[in-house]
Amino acid sequence: MATKARRSFSQQNLEFRHSGELGEQLAEALRVPAHGGYVLTHRFHPYPGRFHPHLPRRLLKDHEGTDIRVFDPFMGGGTALVEAMLLGLPTEGNDLNPVASLVARERTQPRSSEQAERIKGEAGRIAAQVEALRREKNPPRVRQRNLERLAPHYQQHLLAELLQWLRLVNALPQIPARETLRAVFSSGVVKYSNRLSDSVGERDPPRYPKGAVTRFFVAKCDELLEAQVTLGRRLIAPAQVRLHQEDSLLLPSLGWGLFDIIITSPPYPGTYDYYEQHRLRMDWLELESESFQSGELGARRETRQRRWSHGMKDVMTSLYRVLRPGGSLFLVLGDWVEGDHGVDAATALRRIAKAVGWREGASASARRGTHSRKEQKAFSKKGKWEHLIEFRRP
Ligand SMILES: C[S@@+](CC[C@H](N)C(=O)[O-])C[C@H]1O[C@@H](n2cnc3c(N)ncnc32)[C@H](O)[C@@H]1O
Repeated sequence: MATKARRSFSQQNLEFRHSGELGEQLAEALRVPAHGGYVLTHRFHPYPGRFHPHLPRRLLKDHEGTDIRVFDPFMGGGTALVEAMLLGLPTEGNDLNPVASLVARERTQPRSSEQAERIKGEAGRIAAQVEALRREKNPPRVRQRNLERLAPHYQQHLLAELLQWLRLVNALPQIPARETLRAVFSSGVVKYSNRLSDSVGERDPPRYPKGAVTRFFVAKCDELLEAQVTLGRRLIAPAQVRLHQEDSLLLPSLGWGLFDIIITSPPYPGTYDYYEQHRLRMDWLELESESFQSGELGARRETRQRRWSHGMKDVMTSLYRVLRPGGSLFLVLGDWVEGDHGVDAATALRRIAKAVGWREGASASARRGTHSRKEQKAFSKKGKWEHLIEFRRP
């Protein structure tokens, strides 16, 4: 029996418009396919607001096998980077969120079978140790700096298992295995908490039996490593990937004209709050999060659009610097709600781009579904659109 693809409101293809030389191609890039796409390492770890892999692939596929340098300054989990790698293109990504660095590093990491087997072996050893500790009356105490903040979000038996896992992972002497298993740990932190998902708040405590955490981590680790081995086999050229963790309003370590193409989706004002969504992960992994807390662009906890516009102007100025003259910047942005009215993201973006000196090449927009009463009301006349605009660096 054929199964119906589950499509979120933000992925519905209700209507399209386009203009400019590349407009039709941009509209195709915005058309979310009904099935598949999240293959290889794209499947690893949840990441809210990510691209469908089809979008960067469509924008880049004519450059396959060239030495066009691709950059995503808001890489999130690194979707654009993985697609650039698969087309044999050198690529760099940046995100101020330390969890994005963790996820993107694993998603862009091709591995040999030998490396994968070594890391699987470490995961197996840790699983056996955690299982044995679970049966002990007095397991070793675990020092966790943020325990007070973490404990209220977990049931006791799940918390104990998570603490032991992370203690053993952190004690691994080899950096690649340790970092990969820390990323795998991050992928389960919300699942076993009282939170419903990354972007939705608290729920009734979930019912997981003892040992569930261990089984999950072993399975996730196998899945990731197999995807990384397959990624390695699919590459048509040796991977050239660099990741940065900077504020995209400044990009202090990146100089002039480094890239030929930028593909990115900056945060929309007041739509997500990546710091809040990833806080459990940052607390567990004791990641430095202050720069992200204060520097996050457009966070929901900061609802004023003016601040977003100022920040976005700085972003457009930095991107102007790092793109070579004649290069293309592809920006994806969706309409958002301010107060009780809908804001046309394309108009807001064009105003900022023009002030910085960008020229518009082409654009396409897709009408998407609305998912709340508030959105239905705000977009009742014009509809809610997602835009993909190509700006050129003169
Ligand atoms: C819409 S998401 C990008 C998702 C990405 N396209 C993907 O496929 O996973 C926007 C990203 O911007 C990052 N971000 C927010 N403020 C930032 C800043 N000032 N500098 C750099 N990154 C920032 C967030 O952490 C988030 O990962």
